[in-house]
Amino acid sequence: MKECFKAVQMTDRVYWVGAIDWNIRDFHGYSTHRGTTYNAFLILADRVTLVDTVKRHFLDELMGRIASVIDPGRIDTIISNHSEMDHTGCLPEVIRRVNPSRVIVSAMGAKALRDHFDETMPLETVADGGRVDLGNLSLLMFETRMLHWPDSMVAYLEEEGLLFSQDAFGMHLASSQRFDDELDEPILYQEAAKYYANILLPYSQLVQKQLDRLGRLGFSTRLIAPDHGPVWRTNPGRVVQWYARWAEQKPTRKAVIAFDTMWGSTDLMARAISDGLHAGGIATKLMHLGGCHRSDVATELLEAGALLVGTPTLNVNMFPTVADLMVYLRGLKPKHLLAGAFGSYGWACRGVPQVLDILKEMNLEIVGEGPTVVYVPKPGDLARCFDYGLEVARQLEARLTRAAE
Ligand code: FEO
Repeated sequence: MKECFKAVQMTDRVYWVGAIDWNIRDFHGYSTHRGTTYNAFLILADRVTLVDTVKRHFLDELMGRIASVIDPGRIDTIISNHSEMDHTGCLPEVIRRVNPSRVIVSAMGAKALRDHFDETMPLETVADGGRVDLGNLSLLMFETRMLHWPDSMVAYLEEEGLLFSQDAFGMHLASSQRFDDELDEPILYQEAAKYYANILLPYSQLVQKQLDRLGRLGFSTRLIAPDHGPVWRTNPGRVVQWYARWAEQKPTRKAVIAFDTMWGSTDLMARAISDGLHAGGIATKLMHLGGCHRSDVATELLEAGALLVGTPTLNVNMFPTVADLMVYLRGLKPKHLLAGAFGSYGWACRGVPQVLDILKEMNLEIVGEGPTVVYVPKPGDLARCFDYGLEVARQLEARLTRAAE
């Protein structure tokens, strides 16, 4: 069984020994329609080192890939850059099998591992900017707190110009290819953007600080090896540039209209608003929440300038799928968006005000009073919707003009 799994050589001294999760479709609320990988890396230094492990279920795959290169018992050091269980689920069992002399963690990582596992581990903490001696090689360690957990850390293998970036620069993409240049660029961009929008967006200011720090260090990074998705070996600087742009959250000429509908009224309103926006020069993306996942809405918002949310009123509440989206977006804290709410109701308009309350809580700038309609929109109602779309377009255009000055 174990002989099935082979390591993939990345450099003279570094191998990929991770696992491919082809069929995962939900990653704590994020739709992973292309699956994912849990990457782990083996460094053949004097002190043989394993960088991160994998989700518990994939232990055999990890151990098999390691065994295809060396006897796993030769592993001296384990680096645990992040304690979330997709990277540490099998750590206790790996420690039992390998008996390493040390497990290197950040101070917050030591606490998080103790909080996760009722195990004695040979933990050794490393300070931010500290060096881990591997004999003939060494790793420089940098804390990246809250990117995206308090314990997060990255490791730089100077001799190979290789950054083990943990979750950063990763994506949920299962593939038999291990390197960026073996995959389609539009898919890489799409999945990296989705990962940023759903995992890192709330910490964009910290992303900017860490990117500045990385720039000041002046590393000549040849490879970036994240813990999900492919290794960046062809111009890895481009994903760094994507991050710099996404972290700015600059508005664009695009509006996302996310809505649900009971009998088609809010749907009709969404389409009329979309036409108004389009007439005002703004591209739109209509997303019916009956078929569009919350994480895909978040991804579309990453490069947008406005968010309009449509909801009917159901049992004196916003529609359940809309509530799901609003709670999710409130956590992701997108910035610099114009926002509004609209929808139909029967006898009590409650859904739209509830959505507006959350949009205000998110500190988004609200565009006037979004249209509401009793039961079914008439031609005059649809004209109001069109005009509302035009007004959002006008305000977005004005905002973009101010930003360009
Ligand atoms: Fe891939 Fe935050 O774990």
